[in-house]
Amino acid sequence: MNKSSFDLSAYLNDNKALVETYLKKILNRFNPSHELVQAMGHSMMAGGKRIRPVLGLAAAKACGGNPLTALPSCCAIEMIHTYSLIHDDLPAMDDDDLRRGLPTCHKKFSEATAILAGDGLLTHAFHVLTQPESLFEFYPDRFILLELVSRISDAAGVNGMVEGQMLDMQSQEGKNRGNKDALLDHLKKVHDLKTGRMICVSVEAGALSVGADPRMLTSLGEYADNIGLAFQVMDDILNVEGDPNKMGKAIGSDALHDKMTFPAILGLEQSKGYAGQLVDAGLAAIEGFDKKADPLRAIARYIIDRDR
Ligand code: IPE
Ligand code: IPE
Ligand code: MG
Ligand code: MG
Repeated sequence: MNKSSFDLSAYLNDNKALVETYLKKILNRFNPSHELVQAMGHSMMAGGKRIRPVLGLAAAKACGGNPLTALPSCCAIEMIHTYSLIHDDLPAMDDDDLRRGLPTCHKKFSEATAILAGDGLLTHAFHVLTQPESLFEFYPDRFILLELVSRISDAAGVNGMVEGQMLDMQSQEGKNRGNKDALLDHLKKVHDLKTGRMICVSVEAGALSVGADPRMLTSLGEYADNIGLAFQVMDDILNVEGDPNKMGKAIGSDALHDKMTFPAILGLEQSKGYAGQLVDAGLAAIEGFDKKADPLRAIARYIIDRDR
């Protein structure tokens, strides 16, 4: 593909707007005067790149389907991602004050409300998947809904993001133990679990929603595993050298908390090289797709070019 033939910025803006309209529709079904609803809305609508749902919509397109079919599952994943950020920022976890350019949920409301807002988003995400427009007649096959629930819950839970967060927390204590290779292997595992699995399931959910065949799913899974890891490596790099005004969150917090990160083990330059290799491997995995996969290709490159 000629890089300049695809307007990524317009694509991201258009698809982000689709996602935000759908998310607003979900939130508007609740009583806006309830503090819990306000806390959920504060974090949910604060901005954010919406990279996971947009990846899902792009995967649906790459498989030749109608991306709108994938909106409920993609938005459910963005709700789960937002809950993970609310809890990640809590004093007991990363203790951050700024998220998506706004005070973190516990700073704006209270710690208890932030915990419950996260719980609310996580639980309601699965309700969203079962709404009438997400039901049988909407998907090409009724079993797709079961497959979506199974894969999304697995990626978000103790086989995925939650376990990754646990290992991330524990790695603060064990950082200086073991040799460099062992540390890198461990770090890849943590990053894959805490970030990679949710990115991978976003791509899978988009593809599954439009009835992608197993061969396509395998290639897309390989694409997503690679770019998912690259995404977290880049998050570590931006935590060292990013612009907090652009990112809407603090930088330097990983070093402050003595977090095990790629820049801490490999240095910045090698970490950037590694992220680039991962993106190349992701692109190679979808070589067999036609130009309908151009958005997926452009998003892969964006992951390492981004400044927020
Ligand atoms: C931040 O995710 C947390 C990670 C898993 C790296 P994003 O960088 O996607 O954050 P938002 O959704 O754009 O705020
Ligand atoms: C967050 O990872 C991963 C989640 C599952 C929420 P980080 O703690 O590294 O992400 P930021 O830098 O706070 O966004
Ligand atoms: Mg964290
Ligand atoms: Mg954090």
